[in-house]
Amino acid sequence: MSTTSVDKQPEPYGELAIQTIAMPAHTNPRGEIFAGWVVSQMDLAAGIAALDVAQGRVATVAINGMQFLIAVHVGAIVSCYTEVTKIGRSSVHINVEVWINEKKTFEPVKVTEGEFVFVAIDDSGRTRPMDK
Ligand SMILES: CC(C)(COP(=O)(O)OP(=O)(O)OC[C@H]1O[C@@H](n2cnc3c(N)ncnc32)[C@H](O)[C@@H]1OP(=O)(O)O)[C@@H](O)C(=O)NCCC(=O)NCCS
Repeated sequence: MSTTSVDKQPEPYGELAIQTIAMPAHTNPRGEIFAGWVVSQMDLAAGIAALDVAQGRVATVAINGMQFLIAVHVGAIVSCYTEVTKIGRSSVHINVEVWINEKKTFEPVKVTEGEFVFVAIDDSGRTRPMDK
């Protein structure tokens, strides 16, 4: 999981689920990328992994242990990597890492990571066991 300093480990962990470019429309008043946009990309990435496991409708039930290590600049290539860490009766836990290319060196650097928990739900919005 995350530390309070920039992660020097050069390799992302998990499967590439989403790759996009940070655009000016997603900036905060300081001109850097808004954290909520990054979290929404992570939610989408984790949702893809959860859909694959649950084979049907899912909902985000929890986001755990997130902290941001560096700011994201406009124009950064934002890559979300996912790893399924636990599958329960109706829930699936997915670790999501976000990486960008460093602005000057273009080296890959980790922005954040977090655990997303999704639950398989039925058409009425109630939880459903994933073996059904
Ligand atoms: C998802 C939802 C139907 C779950 O209802 P619930 O009554 O908490 O369901 P349960 O207590 O039976 O828990 C279902 C599973 O989720 C897990 N779970 C529930 N809350 C959790 C949490 N905070 N952290 C981790 N796992 C959690 C339970 O452990 C259980 O896992 P299992 O079936 O694999 O054993 C309900 O919380 C809900 O509708 N939440 C809103 C979801 C949503 O709209 N998300 C988008 C928000 S914008």
